[in-house]
Amino acid sequence: MFLLEKHTEIDSTNNRAKALALEGKRNLCVVADRQTGGRGRMGRQFFSPGGSGLYFSLLISPTVKGEDGALLTTFAAVAVAEVLEALTGKETAIKWVNDVYMNGKKICGILTEGSVDYETGKFAYAVIGIGINLGKTAFPEELASIASDVERETGVSLSRDTVLQALLAKFDRMEEALEIGAFMETYRKKCFVLGKDVTVTRGNERFPAKALDVNSRGELVVEADGRIMTLPSGEVSVRM
Ligand code: BTN
Repeated sequence: MFLLEKHTEIDSTNNRAKALALEGKRNLCVVADRQTGGRGRMGRQFFSPGGSGLYFSLLISPTVKGEDGALLTTFAAVAVAEVLEALTGKETAIKWVNDVYMNGKKICGILTEGSVDYETGKFAYAVIGIGINLGKTAFPEELASIASDVERETGVSLSRDTVLQALLAKFDRMEEALEIGAFMETYRKKCFVLGKDVTVTRGNERFPAKALDVNSRGELVVEADGRIMTLPSGEVSVRM
């Protein structure tokens, strides 16, 4: 069960959840109508206007090891994909590791952050931040060709509360699901980069590869330059 903290406006629900973590809080959900400094992966901004999106962060103390942190993101991606499919009847797809797509456009991003105890390798806390473009969104020009919203892609207008409650019910069972691991099969089926030629971006590095699989730890398995590599983090784009 998560205790809800609601905001009309905040810089970033992830920032707030991390501040609460340092106060010793856990099992909280920080949700905001809009974010003034919404953050994405790789130091990017996450467009978070009021009225159309669901922006929230879960503050948890997961039992998975710090090195298996990618599983939190993969679990969250499957949860979002399944909830949106159940509520709209339309198919979703996942781009490793953290984006949920509809009709080839990104409709949700996930940013997982946390603090891992160096000696035990365990999470002191983790924050799973999820941003879903639900209602019709006026995207800035640079996002309009790659991002969309659930209403535009499905014709279904979902209330933020309905989606949040359905997701919280999934996260209530996260520990059990992580133990069983069956959600990774759903992840693989939905992960549209598998089998494709991709460009991997890892830090300052960029290289071509073929995406082969996502392993049971949520890492992307690729073949690059004749070698098999597993990527715990990074980003891929499909080469056309
Ligand atoms: C990405 O697309 O790279 C990840 C985007 C994550 C956005 C969510 S919105 C709620 C939470 N607060 C943030 O500042 N970021 C996450």
